[in-house]
Amino acid sequence: MRERWTAVDRYVEEDLLIPDLALDAALADSAAAGLPAINVSPSQGRFLQILAQAMGARYILEIGTLGGYSTIWLARALPKSGRIISLELDPKHAAVAGANIARAGLTELVDVRLGKALETLPKLAAEGRPPFDLFFIDADKEHIPDYFTWALKMSRRGSLIVVDNVVRKGEVIESQSEDPNVRGVRRFIEMMASEPRVGGTVIQTVGVKGYDGFALALVSGAA
Ligand code: SAH
Ligand code: DHB
Ligand code: MG
Repeated sequence: MRERWTAVDRYVEEDLLIPDLALDAALADSAAAGLPAINVSPSQGRFLQILAQAMGARYILEIGTLGGYSTIWLARALPKSGRIISLELDPKHAAVAGANIARAGLTELVDVRLGKALETLPKLAAEGRPPFDLFFIDADKEHIPDYFTWALKMSRRGSLIVVDNVVRKGEVIESQSEDPNVRGVRRFIEMMASEPRVGGTVIQTVGVKGYDGFALALVSGAA
């Protein structure tokens, strides 16, 4: 079925999504620079953008920038007074992202912060900024539980926390898995289930990236 999933994604890209040269160039330059092609797909980028637009997001926090592809989709949803902060460990990734974001004309809306997210997050939380409306957690999977905890700290009632790659070809159901990524995801899902301030779900996805899924957690109680 994978060929079908890919063909449908291509159909959606070609017949539905509005062409954006800066997004295409971001992917081309990321590939040319040797970055792994693990960015969200175009239809997923548009999905994230629609979530941001639907909630009128002004402040977005992304964890895992890579070449800035998802960053650009999300930044395009922001008003002029908005801001997306994106955390990235690898200086090469951050440099490619910076160039891609500049070409998209989004430099003023985007703040890429270099370093281990677990080190950057406490600093960010200490800055006393307004809560983030939307979070996109898409970095190393074993630390998703920590990233979720930090996101909750920097959220408000109504904030949305989106986490990528939580289905992992279905491996998420393997309770005995020793894969640190699966364990990270499962621990996060347990936290989401037992956290009274959030209500969440998991949406499975297929497409050019194969079989995976997003978790959506809505902060419904005072954080
Ligand atoms: N969100 C991007 C894809 C991110 S890929 C998109 O869809 O376009 C995951 C990124 O997380 C990689 O660039 C990787 O270098 C970064 N990363 C991995 N571990 C990290 C950490 N501990 N802190 C910050 N970034 C990290
Ligand atoms: C990988 C990471 C991602 O964020 C993703 O969406 C797909 C794959 C990875 O590390 O292999
Ligand atoms: Mg991902």
